[in-house]
Amino acid sequence: MGYTRPLTPGSLRVRNMVSADQFIQGFRFLPGYFDRSAQIDLLEALREAIAESPFYTPTMPRSGKPLSVRMTNLGPLGWVTDRDGGYRYQATHPVTGQPWPPIPAMVLDLWRKVADYEPPPEACLVNYYVPPARLGLHQDADERDFAAPVVSVSLGDSCLFRIGGRERASPTRSMKLSSGDVVILGGAARLAFHGVDRVHPGTSTLLAGRFAEGGRINLTLRRVTEPG
Ligand code: SIN
Ligand code: MN
Repeated sequence: MGYTRPLTPGSLRVRNMVSADQFIQGFRFLPGYFDRSAQIDLLEALREAIAESPFYTPTMPRSGKPLSVRMTNLGPLGWVTDRDGGYRYQATHPVTGQPWPPIPAMVLDLWRKVADYEPPPEACLVNYYVPPARLGLHQDADERDFAAPVVSVSLGDSCLFRIGGRERASPTRSMKLSSGDVVILGGAARLAFHGVDRVHPGTSTLLAGRFAEGGRINLTLRRVTEPG
């Protein structure tokens, strides 16, 4: 599998940490993958999709406690959570009842270039963080296919991202993710615990004028079912 490919020269820009690429096999960090003009194109494509499939506030299984991150999805399947149904994938938006809009071509193109996994992603979770929103340490484990990597894109304000190992108690490393950065969790890192400790307000102008509250958007691409 290609997850252990050597670092691209760009990834030497890893900041303030022992490179997580070396820390956990299968973790790849592609800083600045999307330049500013590509980020703008991507955000415009997202804006159209989000107008059709708006952000909503998901809730925790059992407790029904609201998450601080707002969410929507693109693609045939979307990841949702609520008090009664728990974590799951479904084909429709829980509020509008409509199918999720398609994953933009630019995003599918990213998958083709970096995932090293031929079948296309089925889910593109769109997380919207307006400070003080955060996302606790968790594993992406609701999929049936762990052979495919998780590919994620950061847009807007930078954040403090934390990644550890396959156990909740495994040691973790923190790193800054900035607008345009891509992270890949493949191989042994596919089930690594990860989360977002905080978003740094006002560190990017990308969302200003496009999303009134500023903040950070993250796209998470996943294969849900086993192909064939
Ligand atoms: C996630 O794990 O769902 C999102 C991670 C991120 O926002 O960078
Ligand atoms: Mn995740």
